[in-house]
Amino acid sequence: DPTSILNPFFVAHGASAVNWPDLVRGSLRMNASFSNNIHKHKSLVSRDDRVRLNGHKSAVLWFTGLSGAGKSSVAHAVEKSLHDLGCQAFVFDGDNVRHGLCADLGFSAEDRAENIRRIGELSKLFTETGVIALTAFISPYRVDRDRVRELVTPGDFIEIYCNCPVAVCEQRDVKGLYAKARSGVIKDFTGVSAPYEPPEAAELVLDTATLSLEECVELVLTLLREKGIFGT
Ligand code: ADX
Repeated sequence: DPTSILNPFFVAHGASAVNWPDLVRGSLRMNASFSNNIHKHKSLVSRDDRVRLNGHKSAVLWFTGLSGAGKSSVAHAVEKSLHDLGCQAFVFDGDNVRHGLCADLGFSAEDRAENIRRIGELSKLFTETGVIALTAFISPYRVDRDRVRELVTPGDFIEIYCNCPVAVCEQRDVKGLYAKARSGVIKDFTGVSAPYEPPEAAELVLDTATLSLEECVELVLTLLREKGIFGT
């Protein structure tokens, strides 16, 4: 019975009593033979080789915050700056990924967990390719973000909290979603009818209600320089 098997992801990362079929709906085709006969093939090109070739390190810049807090804007601006500086960088964005890789997922806590799990795995693969991965997802649950932190190589996960009061996001309401959430057209909307759990120890907090886009980008680039990701 596939429903009685614990998801190796959560076992490996110390979670217990996880009802993984609910959590990993998209992976329900997993069964007992799923991981038994699969063997990893070791690449002849290592991450270090790629880092040497690129001239910079890879990492996961995990932007989290409310819808409208500026995650995507900052992530894309940082990506552009890194590119102009000669670095390999790529943004994964919730609004884009949810049209493809995660098109089967909604906004329940379980679906958001699976959304973040997939992006976490994807980001980890990207660090192996030597690319600086930037992710812009609300990722409202601390436990989901922390699982990604534990999944990737220690030190790779750089959590960047785009801190913006819900009132400001709502006033901006770039996509008109807060109005729909208030009127009940959209259910389980983060900050209105679904929770957001801010990071307790983010590597960087950007007060996006008061800082300009340029100031945010500069703070991120400074952190990356300090961490020796690039420019050393
Ligand atoms: S997450 O919670 O799973 O991390 P994600 O970042 O992928 O969410 O997607 C959030 C985007 O989906 C928002 O920016 C918004 O445009 C849209 N969206 C649609 N419905 C909701 C909802 N109920 N809650 C939050 N965002 C929603």
